[in-house]
Order: sequence, then structure tokens, then C-alpha cells
Amino acid sequence: MLMKTCTPSSVLLVCLGNICRSPTAEEVFRQQAAIAGLSIKVDSAGTGDWHIGHAPDERAQRHAKAHGYKINKLVARQVSADDFRNFDLILAMDTQNLADLQAIKDSLAGTDDHLAKLALFSEEDPTYGGDDVPDPYKGDSDAFEEVIERIESSAQAWIESWKTC
Ligand code: 4NP
Repeated sequence: MLMKTCTPSSVLLVCLGNICRSPTAEEVFRQQAAIAGLSIKVDSAGTGDWHIGHAPDERAQRHAKAHGYKINKLVARQVSADDFRNFDLILAMDTQNLADLQAIKDSLAGTDDHLAKLALFSEEDPTYGGDDVPDPYKGDSDAFEEVIERIESSAQAWIESWKTC
């Protein structure tokens, strides 16, 4: 039987810009964990540096708000080596983000004993498992709605997997 991973104490959600997908995922995850009674530190970051210090994209803010997630106060930052030391689990929104994170992790191997576990955000999801959360930045309103739908589904799947541990 496959051993389930127990609830991590901290989770970092990562996308490219940290202004669309991962800040949305941060708030969805935070709310779902609270509802499930799980105490988890949740944060988000981007692999890129273009939007450091910026608020989430206003389209992401609007779509998140329509679904009950307030993300306007979040501030974008870039993922750092320390994140691999300080978080238990780092979840990548798409396979390119995952590859970029793996390269950082590989560069740290040997210097640190305990580095964050890495996975694709959709990994546990029975509906969207293995899929990317597609980058909505150049997309339309439907793309932002799809981001919310996929994030809600995949976050719930992680939390369900921990509840049974
Ligand atoms: P995110 O979306 O990775 O979901 O925050 C993007 C935001 C900005 C850019 C790309 C994706 N950009 O190229 O600036």
C-alpha cells in the first residue's frame, strides 16, 4: 500500500510571475486548509523576477474576488534558495515551473540535508492530475475562470490526501 504523506507544516505555491495563478492558489489553499482544520503556513512566489513587489494582476484579483478569495493585498516575490530550506512542500503550477524549481533544488543538493519536497500542483487531483494550471496572462476571462476551477480542485485533493493520513 502506498504511504500517504502527512500534512506538511508549510506549503509554497509557485508559478511564473506570482501575479495570477500562485497568489490565487495561496488564498484558496489558505481558506481550504482552515475549513479542514489544518494548520499550515501558506505562501506563494514566482520563478521570474518581473513582478517583484507588485500586487496580483487585476484580472486575477477580480476573478478571485467573484469566488470569495481576496488577494489584493498579496505582494509578488521571487522564489529563493531559502524557500527550499524553509518550506516542507513546494508545488509548481505547471511543468516548466517544476523544471525550474528542480534546477534550483539540484543546485542546492549536497549543501543542505533537508530541502523541500517538490511536486506538480495537480499531482493528487483525480480530475486534473498531471495537467498544468495553464498560464492565463495572455488569455481571456475564460482562462482566469479555468485557473480558479483547477486551483480549487487540486488544492482540495491535497487537503483530502492529508486528512486521511
Ligand atoms: P502567473 O502569470 O505565472 O500565473 O503569475 C504570469 C504573469 C506574468 C507573466 C507571465 C505569466 N509575464 O510574462 O510577465
